[in-house]
Amino acid sequence: MFSVYATHADADDPLSALRIGEQPEPHVLEGWTRVKVSHATLNRHDLFTLRGITSHREGISFPIIMGNDGAGTLDDGTPVVIYPVMGSDDWRDDETLDPHWHILSEFVPGTFADYVAVPKRNAIVLPEGLSALNASVLGTAWLTAYRALFTKSNLKPGQTLLVQGASGGMSTALIQLGRAAGFEVWTTSRNRAGRALAERLGAHRTFDANELLPRKVQAVISSVGTASWDHSLASVARGGTIVVTGGTTGMDVGLSLLPIISEQITVCGSIMGTLQNMKDMIAFISSAGIAPEIGKVLPMERAEEAFRAMWEGTTHGKTVFTR
Ligand SMILES: NC(=O)c1ccc[n+]([C@@H]2O[C@H](COP(=O)([O-])OP(=O)(O)OC[C@H]3O[C@@H](n4cnc5c(N)ncnc54)[C@H](OP(=O)(O)O)[C@@H]3O)[C@@H](O)[C@H]2O)c1
Repeated sequence: MFSVYATHADADDPLSALRIGEQPEPHVLEGWTRVKVSHATLNRHDLFTLRGITSHREGISFPIIMGNDGAGTLDDGTPVVIYPVMGSDDWRDDETLDPHWHILSEFVPGTFADYVAVPKRNAIVLPEGLSALNASVLGTAWLTAYRALFTKSNLKPGQTLLVQGASGGMSTALIQLGRAAGFEVWTTSRNRAGRALAERLGAHRTFDANELLPRKVQAVISSVGTASWDHSLASVARGGTIVVTGGTTGMDVGLSLLPIISEQITVCGSIMGTLQNMKDMIAFISSAGIAPEIGKVLPMERAEEAFRAMWEGTTHGKTVFTR
């Protein structure tokens, strides 16, 4: 079947590991189902796959069909969106705490193909009014944003959220979700276009990257990593929270414990979300009338140009591949 896959890892030249061509159809294990993919969404995680970056000790099973996120139809035509987290069959707690957890495209083939196979519980039936296009972006960046905002940030309506970075998939999700939830949404961006996008999506105030804020905020959510860490720490109010969801510019930071102790700052990590988080988010965006920001839609055959744009840092919102 048609697929977009990675042959190996190349940390410095990730696009050299990208292939577009034929791969075998995935096995549909007992208790799993086959989804015919109509829309699949690019994530920075896909670049990490090409670079060999993973939190799993086992590494990535190359060659691997890429793609965490997607929507499509079951064999009987039912429209579904995919929840990308999987793990032990008998795990009943928070899926992201399962020691055997993983996401699509690490050990099992991903969504950038004609078909993807997932456990039946990972195929969520689309509610009326949610298109496959809009649903296809929800599995990774949006799910992570939802959980960081609603279960980790400790924010109450009316309090101020700082989103580090404005133009990306997760940042745009945080701005749209945060605005709809009644938070005061502030965001930073490296450029004017990012700030303009954030304002269009509902950010109350925007700032240049690392600009001094007029006052401190109750919570910061950052996927930017090294480049924004000092600013996040300087921007959070006494008793506030920094939720760390990514490290686009690097994972290493200099950390002085004194302000964390004396200002009583909570620093917490957040990764993906539970199946229930995803269902709750779908209900929330449906009732709030949120249309996720989609920067580009293009045929999956043209995946390489989208990967290149993400590698060069020029995408905005989500990029969706169609089949
Ligand atoms: N924890 C999790 O479960 C989880 C889930 C999804 C993603 N992530 C991680 O979160 C990060 C963001 O993912 P994403 O899919 O939103 O990526 P993306 O769409 O490529 O967005 C990148 C974001 O980083 C900002 N940025 C700041 N400095 C940058 C630089 N030098 N180069 C590129 N971007 C820069 C951009 O904002 P401006 O352009 O406005 O400055 C933009 O908002 C990645 O590190 C990803 O691995 C983690």
